[in-house]
Amino acid sequence: MKVSKVLFIVLVVLSLVAACAPAATPAPAQPAATTAPAKPAAPAGTAACAPNCAYKDMVMCFPQLGAESDWRTADTASFKDTATKLGFKQLVFSDAQQKQENQISAVRACIQQKVNVIALPPVVEDGFEPVLTEAKNAGIPVIIVDRSVSADKSLYASHIGSDMVLEGERSAAEFNKLLPNGGAVLELSGTTGSGAAVGRAKGFRNKLNSNIKILDSQTGNFTRAEAKPVMEAFLKKYKAGTDFQGIFIHNDDMGIGAIESLKAAGVKPGDLKIVSVDGTRGGFQAMVDGWFQADVECNPLLGPQVAEMALKLMNGQTIDREVLTNETVYYPDKAAELLPSRQY
Ligand code: AHR
Repeated sequence: MKVSKVLFIVLVVLSLVAACAPAATPAPAQPAATTAPAKPAAPAGTAACAPNCAYKDMVMCFPQLGAESDWRTADTASFKDTATKLGFKQLVFSDAQQKQENQISAVRACIQQKVNVIALPPVVEDGFEPVLTEAKNAGIPVIIVDRSVSADKSLYASHIGSDMVLEGERSAAEFNKLLPNGGAVLELSGTTGSGAAVGRAKGFRNKLNSNIKILDSQTGNFTRAEAKPVMEAFLKKYKAGTDFQGIFIHNDDMGIGAIESLKAAGVKPGDLKIVSVDGTRGGFQAMVDGWFQADVECNPLLGPQVAEMALKLMNGQTIDREVLTNETVYYPDKAAELLPSRQY
């Protein structure tokens, strides 16, 4: 037999023996290293005093958007009274005078101060992403108060306020009853780009009967002073009672400004159908005097709810991402009776 043949046979036999050999037993698993169970990470914004934080530990930043209306004055008072009553460590208050840049600067100052929570009533919807991101990166939770923002929901903890779209829908429903045979209305709208004005305008258009036309829409920036000339200009352009039968007004302060212009032009209470929003004492008086046929409620007394949520955030508790205020519509028949007990 040739040497090469012998080598070939030896190799074949060796490979057969290897194939039939039992598989190597896997090494026994090493017991996992024993470490202490990981503590679940505290939600962002949890304060050092958690879970026992109290109001006396709370520093809340409240960069109020302005002082444009009686509604706003009542809202500010609600936060200041709540802070005093509950005994906050500090309420960092500022008034942005309806300017977004002032509000953004105020938020930045609060981030520097390392407040526990920021309660932000945004003057307009757009443009808050950068500063909300800064607050988030600093671990300071933001509660959006009253009006909404268009920023991504991941940038803030929650929104507490009114359903502005519903308020607009409720206003439309009143006109559908007041003008059953159709007609034309003017719209005196709130601050351009604000969640309140955008939502109310949207809701109004959602529900207004197709036989009621919106003849014109102009902003009065939620103030009496700015609504007055807008109404004057409307009255120069359109004949009250002929060209239009009603006015939808986005807040009571503008309503009061508009009434001054209507009076000056010789329009009498009841000549036009007027629906306003807020339900302030001024709005109730306008119903008593026969100017407003309905006042859609928008409640400014948000301080206590916001404080409660802020404390939960400090203590690392879960909160609702959206809390809408329960509201109604007021009418002239009960206005005189309810007026003395109105809180704002
Ligand atoms: O955002 C709430 C609105 O702002 C109120 O209707 C108005 O009165 C205020 O200025």
